[in-house]
Amino acid sequence: MSRSLKTVIVNGSLSHPSRTRILLDALHARLGQALPLQAQVIDLLDLQPHLGAALSKDDLPPSTRQAVDAIEQADFLIVGAPVYRASLPGLLKHLFDLIDLDALQGKPVLLAATGGSPRHALILDHQLRPLFGFFSALTLPIGVYATPEDIQGGQVASEALRQRIELTVQLSAPVLRGALQQLEPALAEQAA
Ligand SMILES: Cc1cc2nc3c(=O)[nH]c(=O)nc-3n(C[C@H](O)[C@H](O)[C@H](O)COP(=O)(O)O)c2cc1C
Repeated sequence: MSRSLKTVIVNGSLSHPSRTRILLDALHARLGQALPLQAQVIDLLDLQPHLGAALSKDDLPPSTRQAVDAIEQADFLIVGAPVYRASLPGLLKHLFDLIDLDALQGKPVLLAATGGSPRHALILDHQLRPLFGFFSALTLPIGVYATPEDIQGGQVASEALRQRIELTVQLSAPVLRGALQQLEPALAEQAA
């Protein structure tokens, strides 16, 4: 039986519309041209108010618990965070506080973030990468950061961001093909 990479896209924004979501959708669309992805999007906003009130995943109602289960069972995560006060949103961290310690081991994770200016681009490497390092996830070597100039009118608006997304796909695809190969050797050959 052929397989796609079970992909969970986590949007850590608490706004709608969300620039981070637009970035994540652009990454998903471009990566989906290179590999078979079967994606589910989790918007943090949709997990409220239950997520913030839960001290353990057992406190979550089924609709919210499903998001935690999906993250734990994914083959591949794409995680996007808006910068809030020079860091990731507290509720996004809280979501990952509820994830089982061993659930992300060796799992490829692509990081993305958006901020109000280029000043906080290092959120990718100084805040998000260490979190997934803690989980022993396979964090991909490149992440994507975008500013309001990069995303306008609900879409990717700068050549710089377009190029960054292309580079991200180039650098991520071999790792993701490897992950796919472990799941389904024949399908990975087709995608190569
Ligand atoms: C509570 C809050 C705090 C923010 N703090 C920062 C910040 O420290 N640095 C920054 O560059 N942008 C900051 N911003 C701007 C957002 O990171 C930026 O607008 C982001 O693209 C929003 O993404 P979203 O549309 O997906 O929510 C902040 C926005 C909010 C709502």
